Amino acid sequence: MKFFIDTANLDEIREANDLGILDGVTTNPSLMAKEGITGKDNILKHYVDICNIVDGDVSAEVISTDFEGIIKEGEHLAGLHKNIVVKVPMIKDGIKAIKYFSDKGIKTNCTLVFSPGQAILAAKAGATYLSPFIGRLDDISSDGLALIAEIREIYDNYMFETEILAASVRHTMHVIDCAKIGADVMTGPLSSITGLLNHPLTDIGLEKFLADYAKGNS
Ligand code: E4P
Repeated sequence: MKFFIDTANLDEIREANDLGILDGVTTNPSLMAKEGITGKDNILKHYVDICNIVDGDVSAEVISTDFEGIIKEGEHLAGLHKNIVVKVPMIKDGIKAIKYFSDKGIKTNCTLVFSPGQAILAAKAGATYLSPFIGRLDDISSDGLALIAEIREIYDNYMFETEILAASVRHTMHVIDCAKIGADVMTGPLSSITGLLNHPLTDIGLEKFLADYAKGNS
């Protein structure tokens, strides 16, 4: 399973990248605003800054909602850096745009996906990635992981090449469960990645190994 980090914070992106296991980055307009990145030029520059840190796919989201607008914006974003993946919302004009980008060889990430039907449409349009938001489903007492499992089954039935990018991951158990189900990619905050490091028996065991070494070498 590929690991993407879901943030626009450059320090967090560097920290995850330094671990050596980072495969890409996802962002969205809310994450940009959270970092105080506003204004078109600053946002575009920030995408390039991210691309210069991580050697992997970086999702940059369009804010247009009509076909022509999405195409114009998406082509501009794709031209910024070879790592850019155009993130397009799951709406009618979004699906048309994904098909257009797919035919032109421009990578896409279909975002704001909450149902198997939406997943089928995005795959048929040729999306590179599909982003079902599992945490937001859990937030409204729906089963986000069950959606990932349903989409996995459907995509395997027809050998769709669209990669399932489990998004809105909130914690380490989401990561582990996505891996068990067979999501192709997960994107989550830095804590959902670094949290995987932790186990008290690791800490206790290491402390004892180091203490025993010190006894024999003092
Ligand atoms: C996906 O690409 C989105 O940026 C993200 O995962 C949304 O997560 P949230 O529900 O925690 O805001």
